[in-house]
This record gives sequence, C-alpha cells and structure tokens, in this order.
Amino acid sequence: MAKKKTSSPRTRSTSTSNADVQLASAEVRYAEQLAFLRAIDQAPRPPGWMLSPAAVVDFICGTRGEALRVPAALKLPAGLPKSLVIPAKFVGSRALVERCVVTLAGERGLMLVGQPGTAKSMLGELLAVAISGSSGLTVQGTAGASEDHLRYGWNYSMLLDQGPRPEALVPSPVLTAMREGKLVRIEELTRCLPEVQDGLISLLSERRLMIPELEGEICSVFARPGFNIVATANLRDRGVSEMSAALKRRFNFETVHPIADPQQEIELVRSRAIAVLADTGLTTQLDARLLELLVTTFRDLRDGNTAEGWSVERPASVMSTAEAVTIAAAIARQGVFFPAQRDPISLLPGHLLGVVLKDNVEDRERLLAYWDGPIRRRSENDAHWKRMYELRDVLEESSEGP
Ligand SMILES: Nc1ncnc2c1ncn2[C@@H]1O[C@H](COP(=O)(O)OP(=O)(O)OP(=O)(O)O)[C@@H](O)[C@H]1O
Ligand SMILES: [Mg+2]
Repeated sequence: MAKKKTSSPRTRSTSTSNADVQLASAEVRYAEQLAFLRAIDQAPRPPGWMLSPAAVVDFICGTRGEALRVPAALKLPAGLPKSLVIPAKFVGSRALVERCVVTLAGERGLMLVGQPGTAKSMLGELLAVAISGSSGLTVQGTAGASEDHLRYGWNYSMLLDQGPRPEALVPSPVLTAMREGKLVRIEELTRCLPEVQDGLISLLSERRLMIPELEGEICSVFARPGFNIVATANLRDRGVSEMSAALKRRFNFETVHPIADPQQEIELVRSRAIAVLADTGLTTQLDARLLELLVTTFRDLRDGNTAEGWSVERPASVMSTAEAVTIAAAIARQGVFFPAQRDPISLLPGHLLGVVLKDNVEDRERLLAYWDGPIRRRSENDAHWKRMYELRDVLEESSEGP
C-alpha cells in the first residue's frame, strides 16, 4: 500500500506577500509598523515577547494621531521612516486592551468573549502578531475537533512502520507555540466538546505537555517563555457556561462589546469598507448619508431602542459592525459595477433583508415594524429617512417569491 503522509488538520498560514492573496495576514499588512515599533521600543519586554506591553497597546489602539519619533541616538535599520503615526486598528477601550496584554504576560490564558462580529478574532490576531511576530499558530474550534487538534497527533504510516518517534509526531499549533515560546490562538473554543477543551487544563497550569508514547526526556515538552493562549468564544454559540469550572479558572475573561460611540462606528464602517474594496482593486467613496442611515439602523435594531428613546423590536439575527461593513462595501461595489444606479440608499433595504432574514421568519415583521415606527417618524423631518420610508415595499416584495 502506498504510504501517504498524513496532513495536519490545523491551519498554519505562511507569510505571503500582499499581492497574491485575497487577505494578507496581519504580520504582512502591518509589517512596517511592527518593524518600526520593534526598532524604537526600549521599554522592558516580558521574556519571549517581540514588543513591550505599552508598544503592543500602541500597535493595536494607535497613537491618537501623534507621530512616534526615533530617539536621536538610535540608528534605525534601512528603509524605516524617521517618525510614524500608528493608526488604531481596534476601536474600543484602551483599558480592555491593556488588561489583555497584562493577562498574556501572566500565568493565565486570555478568553475573549462577546457577540458575533465585535472583533474578537481580530483582536486575537493583533495581539499574536504584536507579541509573537506571527498570527499563524491558530486552531479553529469545531464540534468535530479532537484532542489531537489541541495537543498532538501522529503520522500513522510512520508510526506503524517505525514506532513512536519524535519524527512521527504531528504537533498541533498549541504544541508548536509551546516549543517556540509564542502565542497560540484558539478560535471558538466553546464549539469544541468540553472533554476536548479540558485537554488544555493541565497544559495551562503546568506549562508542559506530556507525550507518554515517547520515552525519556523527549516525552515532556516544556513551554518556552512567551507561550500563552488567546481563545475566543461567541456568546451566540454553544455557551461559555458549558466550559468546565477548572478550565474557566485558567483563563481571564474579557468581554468585547459592540462599539459604543455612533460616530466611531460610522467612521470604522467607512474606513473598513474602503479598505475591503481597495483589496479587490476598487477605489471609491462612500456616501456619508448612506453610512449614517446604515449604522443608525444597525444600532437601533441591535440595541432595541433608538437615540430618540423609541423602543424597537430586536430581530433574532446579529446586527454586528462586521455585517454593516459588508453591506457598505456591497453597496459601493454595486455602484461601481452598475454606475447607472445613482441612488445608493435605494439598495439599502434589500441588503438589510439579507442580514436580518437568517434565523427567524418573524424578523421580516420586526423590520417592517421598525419602518412603520422610527423610520416613519424620522421621515417627517428628514429627506433621507423619507427616502428610506418610501422603500418599504422592497421589504414586502421579496416575501412574494418568484
Ligand atoms: N471594535 C472594532 N474595532 C475594529 N474593527 C471592528 C470592531 N468591531 C467590528 N469590527 C470589524 O468587524 C470585523 C470582524 O471582526 P471579527 O471577525 O474579528 O469578529 P468576531 O468577534 O471574531 O466575530 P465572530 O464571533 O463572528 O467570529 C473586523 O475585521 C472589523 O472590520
Ligand atoms: Mg471570530
């Protein structure tokens, strides 16, 4: 029988240039900022870290428009600028990011929990890239994940042929991170079965992984300094409540909330949508009023009330910032591909239905109630909301079927 090398079920991205991939990894996208921060950062770094805690926070939350300058005595590697403004990537509380960084320098793992689309994965990726220089050591938690995904597996043909040897071991990203002293990301940890999750308990407390099949010294892998775990869990999926108490104690939990400030959310949706379009070679502007209507609608339906104090029935679907970015980019893309369509607001109700009508058929009724309540009231004083109100038919038409 032909020997087949077993492929690892884990995801490990390799560093690829921006040009030939749909979405380059954070280490590639932010290579200049990372190299600059690394060169000027003179604060003490926890063992195994690429940057000091303060520089990690600056990388993620930005330098508030201020340019970081190279100290006169420092000689920078060629090609780096003399000063650089680091833009914010994560919009949210700086204190939250500081707590995340402090946790990762300690003896517990970090668990980011929150509603879908609140940038938990993005925050995990940015932390990994700033602290360890790469975000590729990632395990995607699924219902089908086994212990191998979090610990190690075997190349079975080699195992049968030569017995248990280090060469036959297929390390999980967790094991690789322990050996290399890096952060490993575990996405959607709570989607794994509780008994699989519990494989992390001893590993987090003892900071070593036993491989009983191997003999002698090589049967324990000790984590090098810099190793830690950033896990994410989605509050809409199978609950964090199903995590064992023993595992919960080994993580510090941080909740990532939707963006609190409407103007910040509008600005983020605008800039992310433009960046998404630029990645596909499209350069375009986004209509400011469209963005305002889109983000306001999302926030009202997410929060269950409006800024005016009117109550709104919330749909079962998630009205996340990430979905708002997708709609803004789709409408702008439609404008580029079909330039004859000059009214971007007319496209909004159709796209909104695409987000809202996912989980529950009653959500169409909730959307119509939103149209008949807040949108109708606003339409009395505002031409753009009036235009939205006039598009109510779109919501009903799509229920009629072909
Ligand atoms: N606070 C925020 N700061 C920056 N970007 C944000 C923020 N909230 C949402 N986004 C946008 O949402 C996108 C999706 O975020 P991400 O996939 O990390 O969310 P998530 O919380 O992991 O969602 P899920 O639970 O569905 O996995 C980001 O790439 C970004 O464009
Ligand atoms: Mg995620």
